[in-house]
Amino acid sequence: MAVQDKLYHVLGAKQFSRSELEELFAASRAMEDVVRAGGDRRHAGRIMTTLFFEASTRTRLSFESAMNRLGGSVIGTENAAQFSSAIKGETLEDTIRIITGYSDLIVMRHTEIGAAKRAAAVSGVPVLNAGDGAGEHPTQALLDAYTIQKECGGLDGLSIAMVGDLAYGRTVHSLSYILANFKDVKIYYISPENVPIPPSVKHYMDDKGVRYEETTDLNAVAGSVDVLYQTRIQKERFPSPEEYDKAAGQYIVDAELMSRMRRDAIVLHPLPRAGEIAEEVDADPRAAYFRQAQNGLYIRMALIDRALQAE
Ligand code: NCD
Repeated sequence: MAVQDKLYHVLGAKQFSRSELEELFAASRAMEDVVRAGGDRRHAGRIMTTLFFEASTRTRLSFESAMNRLGGSVIGTENAAQFSSAIKGETLEDTIRIITGYSDLIVMRHTEIGAAKRAAAVSGVPVLNAGDGAGEHPTQALLDAYTIQKECGGLDGLSIAMVGDLAYGRTVHSLSYILANFKDVKIYYISPENVPIPPSVKHYMDDKGVRYEETTDLNAVAGSVDVLYQTRIQKERFPSPEEYDKAAGQYIVDAELMSRMRRDAIVLHPLPRAGEIAEEVDADPRAAYFRQAQNGLYIRMALIDRALQAE
């Protein structure tokens, strides 16, 4: 099928302008009311495919819930590496060409950087990137930014610490690109030495004039930020167990660290956590990560709505 330029693909976070973000946040707010009212039927008869080549709980289920809340239906495979024809040697491009004939929208998570762009190049329906290897995770970054806006009242002027695996963690790449749309943002990139924020992200931030600092010292920074964005060390992406061991366990958000943070600061995490936020933190009102995961539903409803309307 011919590629249509007008399709609303979400491939990376750089594609969003400030005004588009503001529109999306307003649409997500409206979706909160839709959910409270029990959902609606605006996309009845439309079909969304979820094609996941990597593990997922929140991203896939919130997309599926979002489509159901809007009256649509979902088909898909949650273990596409084994249960789709990829295992028989089918190319990603052929798989996408086929799915284009079966559904109105594709949500895809893949192991390779750039896979969503490859899919979009041959797709006749919108493609939403639900994570491409160590590349990007734009819909996560959108829900992260939406959460910050809700919790902190806006994004201009904020200081944000991104902590943990900044090399393989795709969410921090996309979140950096989103934050570059806002004024006077200051980012602290805090990581073990072997998993720093990639040069490509720093170049982009330099181009956009965003202030950032790289450091390994979380304790020194914790007391001055509005948002502490903790991440999991991406064990599955390390070249060797030794490299993983070098990065693991260095930054734990616990009650002691929380005591250094400001009263009005928040803690975010894309989840799943693997020990880097102690459970004792959950009861602290500044622990916003479960509210953040809930916001994923509203953002994804707004994205699905936008993609299906543009078609
Ligand atoms: C993240 C991901 O898949 O990149 N999870 C998510 O989508 N919420 C983060 C992670 O796996 O650590």
